[in-house]
Amino acid sequence: MDSLSVDHLTGIENLTTNDIELIFKTADSFKEVINRPIKKVPSLRDITIANLFFENSTRTRLSFELAEKRLSADIVNFSAASSSVKKGETLIDTVNNILSMKVDMVVMRHPNPGAAKFLSERVDARVVNAGDGTHEHPTQALLDAYSIREKLGGVSGKKVVIVGDILHSRVALSNIYCLQKLGAEVMVCGPTTLIPKYIGELGVQVEHNLAAALEWCDVANMLRIQLERQEMKYFPSLREYSMQYGLTKKILDGLSKKIVVMHPGPINRGVEITSDVADSSQSIILNQVENGVAVRMAVIYLLASKIKRQ
Ligand code: CP
Repeated sequence: MDSLSVDHLTGIENLTTNDIELIFKTADSFKEVINRPIKKVPSLRDITIANLFFENSTRTRLSFELAEKRLSADIVNFSAASSSVKKGETLIDTVNNILSMKVDMVVMRHPNPGAAKFLSERVDARVVNAGDGTHEHPTQALLDAYSIREKLGGVSGKKVVIVGDILHSRVALSNIYCLQKLGAEVMVCGPTTLIPKYIGELGVQVEHNLAAALEWCDVANMLRIQLERQEMKYFPSLREYSMQYGLTKKILDGLSKKIVVMHPGPINRGVEITSDVADSSQSIILNQVENGVAVRMAVIYLLASKIKRQ
């Protein structure tokens, strides 16, 4: 059986193109499974997975949980808000206590960049990064690229613009790594204050004019403004941001070609994207959510296959 070059999924940066293609090929099989009347396979009956969420999540947490259940794994869920973390327990102590209960894999969302890698170097379990602060969100990038591949027949040669709050976005960084590894051209678009200065070193184009960016691209990935990570004002008001960078139906219909519209969620309807765009035939937002389960099943399955079972 083909296997991943890594023992943990801490980011896209350290995956090979072969790893990504293997995840997609495996996700193709699982997509077929989740569309059957009986949406479950017994593959991971002997595996226990802990979902540790130190930060809020709707899609990612539910998607991982569903993926694990579809693979017949046993699962335990942990949310920092209702845990002893509030009493001062460290990350390592929390995780080691959970691992003492014989857990094989940890799926973790954490506000600190590098938290998943830190954990992977210290615990005897596979680690999957479900988002670490402003750093990476690898499974989101994988499901995004998988959805582009599904919609457009491939990723190589496609032009993808990522619009919005690039500075605070783990989705942007993981998408840049993933799309480039698969041969896509990537542009970022947003106000100067929300584009990090290092971005040019990643080989992406930078555009501040939304209309020009949309005319250039095949796919527009509209990111949420992450107000919760902004300790200062990066633009005058949400209304002003929306007027400059919000995607409306009028703008979409005025383009010279039909582009694909994506959004990782949660959407701020009326800020980065209007409802009629989010719900239009050009939007693949709900396909992204569906594909998230198949892609996460693939990641978990491939990492679990590297666990030595007695
Ligand atoms: N896309 C995403 O990560 O959404 P959640 O924050 O709801 O998990």
